[in-house]
Amino acid sequence: MSHYEDRIAQWRRDPQGWWMDAARGLDWSRFPETAFDAGQGPYGRWFPDGTLNTCFNALDRHVLAGNGARTALIWDSPMTGRVQRFTYAELLRRVAKLAGALAARGVGKGDRVIIYMPMVPEAAMAMLACARLGAIHSVVFGGFAAAELAARITDATPKAVIAASCGLEPGRVVPYKPLLDAAIGMSAHKPDFCLVLQREQALAGLEPGRDFDLLAEEEAAAEHPCVDVAATDPLYILYTSGTTGKPKGIVRDNGGHAVALHRSISLIYGLKPGDVMWTASDVGWVVGHSYIVYAPLLAGITTVMFEGKPVGTPDAGTFWRVCAEHGVRVLFTAPTALRAIRKEDPEAAMMAGHDLSRLDALFLAGERCDPPTALWAAEKLRVPVVDHWWQTETGWPITAGFREWGLFEPRPGSGGRGSPGYDVAALDETGHEVPRGQQGALAIRLPLPPGCAPTLWNAEDRYRQAYLSTFAGYYDTSDAGMVDEQGFVWVMGRTDDIINVAGHRLSTGAMEEVLASHPDVAECAVVGMADSLKGQAPLGLVVLKAGVNRDEAQVAKELVALVRERIGPVAAFKDARVVQRLPKTRSGKILRATIRKIADREDFAVPPTIDDPMILTEIGEVLAR
Ligand code: COA
Ligand code: AMP
Repeated sequence: MSHYEDRIAQWRRDPQGWWMDAARGLDWSRFPETAFDAGQGPYGRWFPDGTLNTCFNALDRHVLAGNGARTALIWDSPMTGRVQRFTYAELLRRVAKLAGALAARGVGKGDRVIIYMPMVPEAAMAMLACARLGAIHSVVFGGFAAAELAARITDATPKAVIAASCGLEPGRVVPYKPLLDAAIGMSAHKPDFCLVLQREQALAGLEPGRDFDLLAEEEAAAEHPCVDVAATDPLYILYTSGTTGKPKGIVRDNGGHAVALHRSISLIYGLKPGDVMWTASDVGWVVGHSYIVYAPLLAGITTVMFEGKPVGTPDAGTFWRVCAEHGVRVLFTAPTALRAIRKEDPEAAMMAGHDLSRLDALFLAGERCDPPTALWAAEKLRVPVVDHWWQTETGWPITAGFREWGLFEPRPGSGGRGSPGYDVAALDETGHEVPRGQQGALAIRLPLPPGCAPTLWNAEDRYRQAYLSTFAGYYDTSDAGMVDEQGFVWVMGRTDDIINVAGHRLSTGAMEEVLASHPDVAECAVVGMADSLKGQAPLGLVVLKAGVNRDEAQVAKELVALVRERIGPVAAFKDARVVQRLPKTRSGKILRATIRKIADREDFAVPPTIDDPMILTEIGEVLAR
């Protein structure tokens, strides 16, 4: 039985008191006297007069409390066949020395550090080392191309870059260093230095005077103490897709973030110190920041960091092997990963032989979970499956099930009910709430709770414009869906041109910018079409310039290669088609929603504003080929 209503009422009665109580779960160098100051920032700031250090809370305080021998991080890498364990004391020592190495080369409070690393323990250490110094990290996912990395270097103007020599994808080694060198070459800003983790699968050439071996620097450095920061100082910047090619630098502060994440571990995931949590994501995404690195460590639990894929490394039983071997209590992954496993092993025969008795909940996020996938997982694992909805901007779940308060009866397809701090409403175009059970734009009544982005890096106006200007008094999530009679939220899809491919957030606008840069392309449209494995897959339609008379298949091949080169393999852009014309309204707006419906073979009404309905038939014919 769930006590949700009683408990959420306590938050509603006194939101600031509720969060002050949550703040007591952390160690502060100055405990905040004020919970929230509505006068600061676009919608206010949490704990404005508190000071603390996030790394101290994630590592030192556990060691000081006598728990240094507890396992903090287990690295499990089927890509290399290795497993490595770090106690809290060991992790603290590595992080303090890495912080010392960064400080010795001039990195201090407020400096930015780009981290470009695959799923290796040093990625988490690098994040924590920055936090220790009060430096601001910005992790860039390894599947992005050099140009995307360059855009982030230009925007964040980092003093240093911490990189690995390579990443490992099934069947191929991805050398990171050439991508990093190219990115620094392209960027308007040049970092002072780079620390490179040399992995034996592809050693990197180091540029004398600029690049240094990470492990050697760390070894030679002295341990650095934690630097006090204001709760409102930035902990990190995480770039995420916006509606244009220019990514949004989501800023996370130190205090609100630590409070919200620490509280969420018991509230939502039902975990206590010493338990094992495995979040099968990547440190390059927000899910990885929050639930591979910060939340588990803040709460003194053991986190599993996995370098592999749900299938093919070596098989669809890998997830179950990892859960059994490390005694995982909570597994958190994206529905795509389960669809990939189910496709290869529909009967879950590969669970056999793995002791999953300690696993007691599965959490899903990153994309909408189709009910059959949730039901399959619940049936095979015999544990509660909890879908929860959130975004890079919020940093932790907007809606969820709450194990501390008792889980709700399963409702596959729903993301649960609002977490404390999030008052979710479905609004119509004029900003009024639609009746319960009807679709609308999902928005959160201001203020946002601790942990949510207070602003965008160097772009406060863009923050106001993107999130606060649509509906007065609300944060616009850019998701559409409904809130039902009981307050459960059902997220159906985005209202902007963001698509979600294998749980990865991508901008179709950014892909269109790349296609439009091809010399033969006159105009183009990219839409996300339904994909049974990845949820969505990008589809590009291009119209060639007058007079261009080239082989269409060759042009399509070039376009696919161009998106991979400019955005990266993670865009998973594999399908480009040449069409004669694009469907548009009389005012010239491309009818992307209609194109998507044709691609998905859904029924659609011919838009009354369409310029020439015949184009829809032409598009249908091209897509049927
Ligand atoms: N570095 C370099 N390349 C990467 C990469 C990385 N870190 N991550 C992905 N890529 C590449 C892949 O190798 C692939 O390349 P290819 O086109 O040469 O095959 C391409 O980017 C697309 O990757 P992806 O969309 O992940 O597809 P996939 O076929 O490799 O794997 C799944 C499919 C479902 C197994 C995989 O997407 C998955 O595990 N998804 C879970 C998603 C997730 O954890 N999301 C995080 C949010 S919670
Ligand atoms: P990201 O910022 O990469 O975490 O992506 C956030 C987007 O993913 C959200 O705005 C949603 O569109 C989608 N999303 C994340 N979790 C869920 C969920 N549980 N259900 C439906 N959509 C989700």
